[in-house]
Amino acid sequence: MAFSVEQHLPSPSLFALICSLYFFIFSLLLHKSNAQDATLDPSEAGALSSLFQQWNATAVPLWNISGEPCSGSAINGTGFEDPSNNPAIKCDCSYDNATTCHITQLRVAALDKRGIIPEELTALTYLMVLKIDKNYFTGPLPAFIGKLSALIILSISHNGFSGTLPKELGSLKELLMLSIGSNYFSGTLPPELGNLVKLEQLFLGNNSLSGILPSRKSEQLQNISFNYDISPKG
Ligand SMILES: *[C@@H]1O[C@H](CO)[C@@H](O)[C@H](O)[C@H]1NC(C)=O
Ligand SMILES: *[C@@H]1O[C@H](CO)[C@@H](O)[C@H](O)[C@H]1NC(C)=O
Ligand SMILES: *[C@@H]1O[C@H](CO)[C@@H](O)[C@H](O)[C@H]1NC(C)=O
Ligand SMILES: *[C@@H]1O[C@H](CO)[C@@H](O)[C@H](O)[C@H]1NC(C)=O
Ligand SMILES: *[C@@H]1O[C@H](CO)[C@@H](O)[C@H](O)[C@H]1NC(C)=O
Ligand SMILES: *[C@@H]1O[C@H](CO)[C@@H](O)[C@H](O)[C@H]1NC(C)=O
Repeated sequence: MAFSVEQHLPSPSLFALICSLYFFIFSLLLHKSNAQDATLDPSEAGALSSLFQQWNATAVPLWNISGEPCSGSAINGTGFEDPSNNPAIKCDCSYDNATTCHITQLRVAALDKRGIIPEELTALTYLMVLKIDKNYFTGPLPAFIGKLSALIILSISHNGFSGTLPKELGSLKELLMLSIGSNYFSGTLPPELGNLVKLEQLFLGNNSLSGILPSRKSEQLQNISFNYDISPKG
């Protein structure tokens, strides 16, 4: 049953062409699998999963909390505030030579969620945007919020949060927007809010807060668009 192998060998130039084609496809695949290899930092993945469990939140099918959270809408062009993308996260997967992702944005908005802000949140050290408005969250705005030092937007309005505002808010030096209106916060504004020199928008209304916005240069104050109604609820 032996037959001539030579007859089936392609000509040298065709052989070279096929080889380079294979090599081309192989390197494309390699490139693609490298791109998909970027995974969410394990401590952030654990925190996200715990957070969602406590809030009884489930990822929309556009991304994948049981598999790789930094997939689909978390890393492609889907709008962070796209109505179909809620809850939503956004990841930056450029770390460790594009092998590690960190969560940069988290939104759980108007989904009737209940619960508190749990300490696991502090694992999300790259978080720049946190929006959990219009739910039924309760408890305090905890002091550990000050550890999320990359925050640019902190928006927790229209919930049931209560207690005094932690002075640690003053550690969030990157904040451009702080929105805590329509909760049950009380007490005086911490002087440390004056440290938020980048702040452009401040929404405090419909709480039971008192005091004055401390130690901001008047020209900085002029730039803040704010709803600073400190009149008591009722
Ligand atoms: C959790 O969410 C599911 C569906 O999203 C709902 O059916 C269930 O009642 C919720 N559980 C609690 C305790 O809120
Ligand atoms: C989510 O990830 C799991 C495990 O990687 C995978 O089996 C599943 O198909 C993924 N689902 C979606 C919607 O991407
Ligand atoms: C993003 O990924 C999701 C899930 O795979 C997909 O449904 C959606 O069409 C993608 N959007 C864009 C803009 O690529
Ligand atoms: C980063 O990735 C590129 C492309 O895969 C590779 O050439 C380079 O050696 C990597 N650098 C490090 C420090 O791993
Ligand atoms: C004030 O805040 C409470 C708690 O979130 C809310 O129920 C109420 O509707 C708010 N009132 C106004 C006028 O926004
Ligand atoms: C106020 O806003 C204007 C216009 O956006 C800007 O040029 C100016 O630097 C701001 N001033 C301060 C003190 O932030």
